[in-house]
Amino acid sequence: MMMANILEIKDLRIYYETKNGEVKAVDGVDMVIEKGTSVGLAGESGCGKTTLGLSFLKLLPTNGKIVSGSMIFDGEDIYAYDEKVFREDIRWAQISMIFQGAMNALNPVFKVEDQIAEAIKLHDKSKRKKERLEIARNLLRTVDIDPAMGSHYPHEFSGGMRQRAMIAMALACDPQLVIADEPTTALDVIVQKQLMDLLRRLKDEMNLSLVVISHDISVLAELCDYLNIMYAGRIVEWAEITEIFRNPQHHYTHGLISTFPTIEDEERLEKFIYIKGAPPNLLNPPSGCRFHPRCPAATDVCRQDPEPKMRLIGENHYVACHHPRGEEQ
Ligand SMILES: Nc1ncnc2c1ncn2[C@@H]1O[C@H](COP(=O)(O)OP(=O)(O)OP(=O)(O)O)[C@@H](O)[C@H]1O
Ligand SMILES: [Mg+2]
Repeated sequence: MMMANILEIKDLRIYYETKNGEVKAVDGVDMVIEKGTSVGLAGESGCGKTTLGLSFLKLLPTNGKIVSGSMIFDGEDIYAYDEKVFREDIRWAQISMIFQGAMNALNPVFKVEDQIAEAIKLHDKSKRKKERLEIARNLLRTVDIDPAMGSHYPHEFSGGMRQRAMIAMALACDPQLVIADEPTTALDVIVQKQLMDLLRRLKDEMNLSLVVISHDISVLAELCDYLNIMYAGRIVEWAEITEIFRNPQHHYTHGLISTFPTIEDEERLEKFIYIKGAPPNLLNPPSGCRFHPRCPAATDVCRQDPEPKMRLIGENHYVACHHPRGEEQ
């Protein structure tokens, strides 16, 4: 059965203008998200994950420019929308986001339930205040916070509760697609686990499509149906989650998976493989495959332009690599 796609991205390029030149933060990304699935986006710091996430809501910093590409959401080209229509009908109402570091983004001077009620008001002016508060309290219940806590201020919440409140805020207008940028980072392991369970439950109950961004691939392993591996502004591998863990084809993916052993997985700890070096500066990325300076399998062809293109390597498994692991001699 063919599932409908909620989002289709083609050849997206987003460059930041800086005084030193253009930072090519997203540089030729293709991505598909099927309705009702959760898709992970993994990669080291600075590889463009947040930039890509922000572009789904057209919330890029002012020096960030969409240089090329298209983004089709529910059959409509997002970038063709008039800004006013997008603001009123799509952003938050259809696509919402839990921002990186969001748990500190609650306004300290307003009660938590009032902040959620305000988010509802932005898109639905028909509801009266009492009704909006009722919805806000129900949302708190949905994210496992005692609704009575709604009349408290953010500083009275723990970090995990604040992050739950941000999730409630992202759900305020009943969106179809939610982008969660590092939703569990900076929280202890037990709270991380609870939040992942919550997100998984919400996805099923509300039939959400989810994009989960994390540098921690073990978080994504628990939460996602598919995984995109991003390196230096590009997606280098894409597959179903179990397939990519069982059979990583890109050498970067292999390194990432080995670098984040799960507590239960002692065998993987022993096979720990460290990816040497650091990601490139995106002002002036390497020629050819951007990973070649760090890649154990790089040959001359990897250093030369053009870069390797994404190609099908197994069932529903794509990789952008000249020498994927399965084809090594
Ligand atoms: N406003 C900006 N102006 C110029 N460069 C920027 C701006 N925002 C981000 N960048 C650069 O764009 C690249 C991608 O940044 P981005 O924040 O998208 O990465 P990330 O993968 O989310 O990293 P992290 O894991 O640290 O959150 C980086 O090189 C970063 O320095
Ligand atoms: Mg980020």
